[in-house]
Amino acid sequence: MKIVILTGAGVSAESGLGTFRDKGGVWTKYDLQEVATPEGFARNPEKVIDFYNMRRRNAAGAKPNAAHFALARLQAEYRHEVALITQNVDSLHEAAGSEAIHMHGAHGQARCTTCDARWTAPLVMSLEDTCPECSATTTRPDVVWFGEVPLYLPEIAEHLHTADLFVAIGTSGTVYPAAGFVAEATGAGARTVELNLEPSNVAGQFDDVILGPATETVPAWVDQVLQAD
Ligand code: APR
Repeated sequence: MKIVILTGAGVSAESGLGTFRDKGGVWTKYDLQEVATPEGFARNPEKVIDFYNMRRRNAAGAKPNAAHFALARLQAEYRHEVALITQNVDSLHEAAGSEAIHMHGAHGQARCTTCDARWTAPLVMSLEDTCPECSATTTRPDVVWFGEVPLYLPEIAEHLHTADLFVAIGTSGTVYPAAGFVAEATGAGARTVELNLEPSNVAGQFDDVILGPATETVPAWVDQVLQAD
């Protein structure tokens, strides 16, 4: 029984990291066209670098919560495969001991737009940073911006097509392609479950919806899966 999990900002909310679209969320305070698009970066790279420096600094003090730890326990103890795909650019899944596929990149990583090298970003990135491979001063946060293609899509498609159970946790179902994963997994014959604070935009497409804070719903759901394993 292969399980494929998709997480979003809601899984990190109780670690103190803001979500994007809830009341007070990141996109209610910042114009995403300015700070999260290639065009915004071309117009004002300093503003974009500063935005990700701020987000990286906030995340540096954050600790994984009970939901991250429960998912790591599931990956360690479940007898079959558990693929964990995240839209989050924080590293809280890894801090809890999970291996996650970061489809929207990671703000702890920097990338060179000249030679495509990737490396651990300094806590404070600067436009003067040089690439460790080719020395160009063309570095950017290794995150996927709106209008860019998410990472690892072939690998993710393979997981979705071989899933027996697809579970989405803490994501509003607004941003594609991730919002379409439930339909893909359903098409491949998987049962589907949503765990979210409130019904997402695509809640109607899931077989089951479990509402509540991730730190409560995820550990309870993991216990149930491991007991039935
Ligand atoms: N527990 C569970 N769910 C929660 C919690 C919580 N404690 N707090 C909030 N949520 C839910 C909200 O109800 C909402 O549906 O998490 C969801 C967060 O939604 P978004 O802010 O839209 O975040 P996400 O779905 O991850 O955004 C997708 O959009 O801006 C881009 O690239 C960015 O990866 C991000 C993508």
